[in-house]
Amino acid sequence: MTITAPKRVSLGQLRVAKCKLRIKTKGRPDQGDPFFVSFLVYTRKIMFKTHTCGELRHTHAGQTVQLAGWVHRRRDHGGVIFIDLRDRFGLTQVVINPTHTSTDDFKRSESIRNEFVMQIEGTVALRPEGMNNTKMASGMIEVMANKVSILNPAKTPPFMIDDDGENVDEAMRLKYRYLDLRRERMSRNLTIRHRLVKFMRDYLDQRGFLEVETPILFKSTPEGAREYLVPSRVHPGEFYALPQSPQQLKQLLMVGGIERYFQIARCFRDEDQRADRQPEFTQLDMEMSFIDRDDILALVEGLLTQFCEDFAELHGRSLMFKPFLRLPFHEVMERYGRDKPDVRYAMELFEVSAATRGSEFLPFQVAHVKGICVQGCANYTRKQTDDLTDFAKKAGAKGLVVMWHDADGVRKTGAGTKLSDAEKAAIVAAAGSKPGDLILLVADEDRNKVNNALGELRHELGIRLKLSKPEQLGFLWVVDFPSFVRDHETGNWAANHHLFTAPKDEYLDNLEADPGAARSKQYDLVCNGYEVAGGSIRIHRRDVQERVMKILGLSMEEAYKKFGHMLDAFEYGAPPHGGIAPGVDRLAMIFAGAPNIREVIAFPKNQQAADIMLGVPSPATEKQVKELHIRLA
Ligand code: AMO
Repeated sequence: MTITAPKRVSLGQLRVAKCKLRIKTKGRPDQGDPFFVSFLVYTRKIMFKTHTCGELRHTHAGQTVQLAGWVHRRRDHGGVIFIDLRDRFGLTQVVINPTHTSTDDFKRSESIRNEFVMQIEGTVALRPEGMNNTKMASGMIEVMANKVSILNPAKTPPFMIDDDGENVDEAMRLKYRYLDLRRERMSRNLTIRHRLVKFMRDYLDQRGFLEVETPILFKSTPEGAREYLVPSRVHPGEFYALPQSPQQLKQLLMVGGIERYFQIARCFRDEDQRADRQPEFTQLDMEMSFIDRDDILALVEGLLTQFCEDFAELHGRSLMFKPFLRLPFHEVMERYGRDKPDVRYAMELFEVSAATRGSEFLPFQVAHVKGICVQGCANYTRKQTDDLTDFAKKAGAKGLVVMWHDADGVRKTGAGTKLSDAEKAAIVAAAGSKPGDLILLVADEDRNKVNNALGELRHELGIRLKLSKPEQLGFLWVVDFPSFVRDHETGNWAANHHLFTAPKDEYLDNLEADPGAARSKQYDLVCNGYEVAGGSIRIHRRDVQERVMKILGLSMEEAYKKFGHMLDAFEYGAPPHGGIAPGVDRLAMIFAGAPNIREVIAFPKNQQAADIMLGVPSPATEKQVKELHIRLA
């Protein structure tokens, strides 16, 4: 005789069964019933809806259905009430007609206002001839209500929810974020983000990656930004730091033999806020052992390409370059003047230094003269070009020389009569300008200043002139970054990425003698003018790591105090490894076509790093402060 184990029933299944029995014997509990809450939780589908508000089509005609959601719009057409009922999945028109509903239900329906939470039971009917709404997915049908329940009334919301919210002050939207999230646009943005993150998980899981969580209460990570500190109650006078990224821990996971790691990681940086920055944000953090740069680039490029293609219908965007563009940092700076250029349009920087070397025009008697050609803008007024000059100065230029290329060539220039015809001709040739174009030139002894100012100008004009198509994605890999950059304030060398990034092998011999010449194994991914990922092949040997630390001015004592765990770990068989961290918020923003990352974060902080809905940051009580052994100034 075989004995089969009794079928295991989960607590949840038991409760559902109990609920079903309860409905059968006593009917649906009302709100006052103590059974109501568990009823809501365990029989949601049975009780509230048979379909979502985006689901019903003409094929459902004649079916009895239950819907639940919010009143999106309400119209009273002389004795018949029309409601557009909304949930995350869409809208359905509900008709409340006294001939179909009880008098009580109809009376109650007269009090319905926008954003009331409703449950409707009724019959799906085809809309009368000529009344179809082509803008609504469910626009061919309506639900003739026979039971109407108000699950919760609502105050008049502080702003309308039935538009896309573009005209509502952002502070108001953030204060009432739970209302703002009801907008279709917000739920679409969160859907894109959800799809992206799920895709990342599946993609990496299929390729042998393990998702590993790392601590949030951590130690200082040297990634450039100021850190958030958390005072310890148990260790008076000591602090944790919130991680700027799990950089060191993911490297230690490689020493731990994990080989392929990823994490949807929360990171914290106390820096000035911008459209693409939040104090806490999310990275797809990755690290791999026994790989090279190109393996990582291929993996990330494959992931983004496939996501882009599989979900094109959801986000409506397409890749402009397949494979992604790939350029060395030096070339990017020379051609675009910015390490995160928007490569969807050209307007590249050109150089005229050789032609202007002997110029009579004083500002051109310097080493570096470069420019950009702004097509079709020769009609710019003086006021407009003055505005561009101010912009260029703010971006570090000493000035901006403007040249108008009209039908007879360049007659008018910001350099007055000082430029010779030969110089003008050389500039026109280098710019590739045609009649109708505007040429903008910057001159300086410092080549970086010229590139930076023109890069910012190019970026700004690209936005103002709408030079790129919003539905296109222009991905660019930037490689071969300098290992070290000078900190202008202190004069010391600083790591361009972070101090765990490996210099390229060919620079190792000469590293101390000429740190400025060394190129590293760092790579960034740029898309549409944003840096969307950064990473590098790491140093995995203690001696090399110590040499880099020394160049950065760390004494060995200091280095050991801060990074002893890394240095020690490198001595126990650390494998060659490297990684990357695409920014989830920035990618979601770009895929959603949103103007900033707050639009793809459910509860973001505002530009002052505050959450005005929650009222944080907020003062701590005296007791809390005392317990943490800190004193407020
Ligand atoms: P990095 O500092 O370049 O690298 O960051 C990686 C990516 O994270 C995103 N990002 C941000 N997104 C929103 N708000 C911010 N404040 C913010 N800061 C960064 C960007 C960026 O490209 N540990 C390394 C990665 C590595 O070397 O593997 C790191 O964090 O999209």
